[in-house]
Amino acid sequence: MSLFEPVEQRILRDARVLDPDFVPDVLPFRESHLQEIASSISYALETGSSSNIFVVGPPGTGKTASIRYVLRELSSYSPLTFQSYINCWIYRSRFSIISALAGALRVPLPRRGFAPDEAYSRIFERLGDYRGAVIVLDEVDRIASASSDVLYDFSRLHSFVDGPLVLITIANTENFVYSLDPRITSTLFSKKLVFERYTVPQLKEILRERAKIALAEGSYDDNVLGMCAAIGWKRGGDARAAISCLREAAILAERKGDDRITVSHVKAVAESVDGARVSSLDPKLRPIVDILRENGEMRVSALYDEYVTRVGKITMRAFRNYINELERLGIVNVRRLPVRGNVRAVSLR
Ligand SMILES: Nc1ncnc2c1ncn2[C@@H]1O[C@H](COP(=O)(O)OP(=O)(O)O)[C@@H](O)[C@H]1O
Ligand SMILES: [Mg+2]
Repeated sequence: MSLFEPVEQRILRDARVLDPDFVPDVLPFRESHLQEIASSISYALETGSSSNIFVVGPPGTGKTASIRYVLRELSSYSPLTFQSYINCWIYRSRFSIISALAGALRVPLPRRGFAPDEAYSRIFERLGDYRGAVIVLDEVDRIASASSDVLYDFSRLHSFVDGPLVLITIANTENFVYSLDPRITSTLFSKKLVFERYTVPQLKEILRERAKIALAEGSYDDNVLGMCAAIGWKRGGDARAAISCLREAAILAERKGDDRITVSHVKAVAESVDGARVSSLDPKLRPIVDILRENGEMRVSALYDEYVTRVGKITMRAFRNYINELERLGIVNVRRLPVRGNVRAVSLR
């Protein structure tokens, strides 16, 4: 007997299919978005013009998957078009973003630092070898405040390049846009494509497609999919949450030696995920979750007062950063109230 027998997977036939990075062959409910992005790119390539697209929507609404899908199609349709996908969560600074672009184009840059304009002109000289370029900055809200210089660079890139250039920026919210230089905002963020939260039936349909290829036949039923969909909806119409719930439930069922996933497996993983998310939070953020749990939706100002009472004095500015962080983590929702002025309310997802 060999020491390393493959583990028999009765339920989870292909775990990769339920990975967050997996890009499926079809993206239901996003056909018109895909079409719109593709049309902008092909228009730019055909006419030699440039454009900027700002993709915005809450976490798990298929923004990254859609862009990856379009890039995949583009590489077979137009292999000579340069494409670069940069996740700003990983590449946070101006230096690292420029280096990533240069690396993708095999443009050597001095290790000890370089002048950005010099680097850009080398990069764009090299782009002359291609039939246009599509550059994606995903999770761009991560860098917005810290290194808006790179956004300023990107808002001017069109002036460096002769050929068609499409810049696609992606973010979970557009709150960060208001704090940027209007010159950046008007070039990079004026053409907006909004990804809406998924509804329960939509999430269920997405799960059904995924389960068909990831799970063994007969190892799950409609109730299991419905419950994962409901959990994804509660987390803000988030397909990632729904899919990972299904994956964790499958793993749990297998570990227990059961041969099918049941609603109780789903319940168990949902509770442990919620608990783990909150208990691993930064202790400074934790009281905000507690206050919201006790009070339901609250205006930012009331939430702030309560926080200060419990925890001690901090500036409103710092407090707003905490709220932004919780929003990014997908733990709270922030909405603008339909009253005069910029009044926002926060609630747990
Ligand atoms: N319309 C869809 N059809 C199938 N899978 C989807 C769809 N939308 C999102 N997903 C899946 O949900 C997960 C999260 O999507 P993602 O694109 O990463 O969200 P975002 O970038 O908006 O946070 C990914 O695994 C993705 O494949
Ligand atoms: Mg994403």
